Amino acid sequence: MPHNKIILMTPGPTLVDYDILLAMAQPTINHGSPEFEELHKTVISKLKKVFETEGEVILIPGSGTSAMDLALRSVVRGKSKVLVLKAGYFADYLAKGARLLGADVVVEEAPLGMGFSPEALEDALKKHGDVDVIALQHVDTSTSVANPISDLAKVAREHGSRIIVDCVASAGGMRSNLDGWGIDVCFTGSQKALGTPPGLGIVAFSREFSRELEAQNKSLYFDLDMLRKEMESTKNYYVTPAVNLVYGLDRALDLILAEGLEKRFERHRFMASLVRSALMEMGVELVAKEGYRADTVTAAYLPRGVEWSSLYKEMRKRGIEIAGGLGELKGKIFRIGHMGQVGYNELISTIAALERSFNTLGYEVPLGKALTKMQNILASRSE
Ligand SMILES: Cc1ncc(COP(=O)(O)O)c(C=O)c1O
Repeated sequence: MPHNKIILMTPGPTLVDYDILLAMAQPTINHGSPEFEELHKTVISKLKKVFETEGEVILIPGSGTSAMDLALRSVVRGKSKVLVLKAGYFADYLAKGARLLGADVVVEEAPLGMGFSPEALEDALKKHGDVDVIALQHVDTSTSVANPISDLAKVAREHGSRIIVDCVASAGGMRSNLDGWGIDVCFTGSQKALGTPPGLGIVAFSREFSRELEAQNKSLYFDLDMLRKEMESTKNYYVTPAVNLVYGLDRALDLILAEGLEKRFERHRFMASLVRSALMEMGVELVAKEGYRADTVTAAYLPRGVEWSSLYKEMRKRGIEIAGGLGELKGKIFRIGHMGQVGYNELISTIAALERSFNTLGYEVPLGKALTKMQNILASRSE
């Protein structure tokens, strides 16, 4: 299968719409030019709409981890006490990042497949005492667990803690209402539910936190003061913006806002329910437990006798790229991304390929059964 024919169903990078690719295929302009300054301002204002904040947004060249590093540097001061709520592999990044900045980090881990309820957060705060910062993933991509961020942010407010949320696998596909929910900081990368190629890090601050924002723990690259000046105007050069990726992100944000945030989030909820129904119809066990399942990615255990490397090869032969497990789940699970520009046709192709791949690998499922399940759900909604 030629690589440009493979449908990307990984939980990042995700499918990139042709409109976005074409938007990037424009002459690279100078970042200090009036044209780029205007474009950059527009992109920042569109990002504020997606994050539902009137606060500041920082856009930097880099992956999601770069945004995480900058976000942590905005809240971790001196020997801050940081509580990391772990629902998968990526919580270790938050803990490591905060520790490297000198914070006193405590980690509370949810049972595999579970996230944190407000009661569980209250218990953790009782156990560890009040903390300066609570840090967690909205969606941990490794387990496909989603946390109830609006409820958790409320608890953080009541305890006077800052809350920093990793929205790498949710922003653009699930709601992140910074000002409304009282999230202080969240961050993402361009390559997931925003549907843009990898290479941009985005950090968004709430209106309230933006007023108190001060640069902490600067490094040469992550100098919040200098980056904030650059966001005011790209004429205040500090680091060179990723000009062509910004063209792409601008187009992606147009697509997102044209679809409408509510409609887009509902589409993601629906796509997730379709994938889960199909997988359960095949007798496959999901990793995330009910009530904690993400709308953007689904992780499931490999059926008995099916090896990850063989499933990966069989799926690629059939034109679909899915992802395997990370960390302790490596070799035990597979993951399907269903976010950003992914649509029903790609979901149908993925489930069809999965049915045939499972049969080839000795896990027998009746061909078409899971597909029919999906078809019926789609038909019932006139899709
Ligand atoms: C939830 C989450 N956080 C952080 C990251 C790290 O992002 P990146 O690989 O873009 O640096 C990822 C990457 O998949 C992720 O899924």
